Amino acid sequence: MYASIILPTYNERENLANCVEAVRQAMGPRTDWEIIVVDDNSPDGTWELAEQLGQQDPRVRLYRRIDRKGLSSAIVDGLAMAAGQRLLVTDADMQHDIRKIPDLLAALDTAEVSVGSRYVGGGGISDWPAHRRFASTMATRVCHLLLRVRVTDPMSGFFAIRRGIFERIAPQLNPRGYKILMEILHWHGKPERVAEIAYVFNPRRAGESKLSSGVIWDYGLSLLELASRRFISARFLKYGLVGVSGVGVQFLAFNLLWKHPLSESLALAAAIATAALSNYLINNIWTFHDRRHRGFGAMLKGLAWFLAISGSGAIINHAVSLDAKTWVLQVSSLTSEAALNVGMVVGIMFATAWNYLLNRSFTWSFQDKPE
Ligand code: GDD
Ligand code: MN
Repeated sequence: MYASIILPTYNERENLANCVEAVRQAMGPRTDWEIIVVDDNSPDGTWELAEQLGQQDPRVRLYRRIDRKGLSSAIVDGLAMAAGQRLLVTDADMQHDIRKIPDLLAALDTAEVSVGSRYVGGGGISDWPAHRRFASTMATRVCHLLLRVRVTDPMSGFFAIRRGIFERIAPQLNPRGYKILMEILHWHGKPERVAEIAYVFNPRRAGESKLSSGVIWDYGLSLLELASRRFISARFLKYGLVGVSGVGVQFLAFNLLWKHPLSESLALAAAIATAALSNYLINNIWTFHDRRHRGFGAMLKGLAWFLAISGSGAIINHAVSLDAKTWVLQVSSLTSEAALNVGMVVGIMFATAWNYLLNRSFTWSFQDKPE
């Protein structure tokens, strides 16, 4: 099947010709492929070289972009203009193992995405200093934690994807920094359809890496963005609204009860209990409708969980509010009272997230889902 190989370049004049030759060798007798060089108008004239290579072999195409827009966006543009049914991305500096290109492409017989990995058996990194290894491992861990992307090397710049899959997810991509594969895997969302192929990351032969602090910053932003789009789900918003309704219920109940011959303290306790009960009931029929408890027994058990989790949330709320207050006092000139107000906002935010996550996993866990 026709394959397109995307080579993003920025100042790779000394590497590009070797890389194109290595691709040619790797593809062997096959002729059904093209190379797309996406160059951001490199000052060293990489694009001129690419043009010459294209004159010698029309399978080498060039897209010269005039303002530098970065690696991920170069990759997306290259993928978008590719003619192949199978699309592959690799660096032009030969740090990836070009000889594995046929394996990555062949993996698409069954997989929808295939990833060159440094972290599966047989893979590795030949010459990175300890700090870059550490940074890479940390970035991978955080990605696993926040995104539920399961491949061992979501930071890889060496991967292949079926054309149809790319076309489906292309509109969602926000290509920033280096981590386009992470975005692709996130939106693809089917880890069982991703294959991994081991390779060893080579030392750079010529030129320099363009990985800068800006790239790392971009990585953090991309992660937060992707993670929050998952976290700030419709369900979480519903949960938050129910919480707000609970405030109204509590005020209303307190004012109604207090006018009767109840003591202030008793009326308050009853108002809090009413609000908690109302929150539970609304969450049960609205927020967690798909997993709702039916019948007296199931609801009583659910309410018990809900109250226990709210209690733990209250403790967290208290501790975080005080911690945040101390922190605010250190970094600002606010008064102690104002700082506590800020602290309470932080405490409420933490407690809300805590309560939501626990309720989602325990009170309304999937296992209880009635079939
Ligand atoms: N068009 C374009 N525009 N290309 C760029 C740009 C840019 O702004 N920045 C970098 N490139 C090209 C480089 O010329 C090279 O071909 C490739 O993108 C990778 O850039 P490097 O600067 O060499 O990255 P690296 O070696 O530090 O990291 C690479 O390997 C890691 C391991 O797989 C990248 O591919 C990382 O994404 C990857 O994690
Ligand atoms: Mn490199």
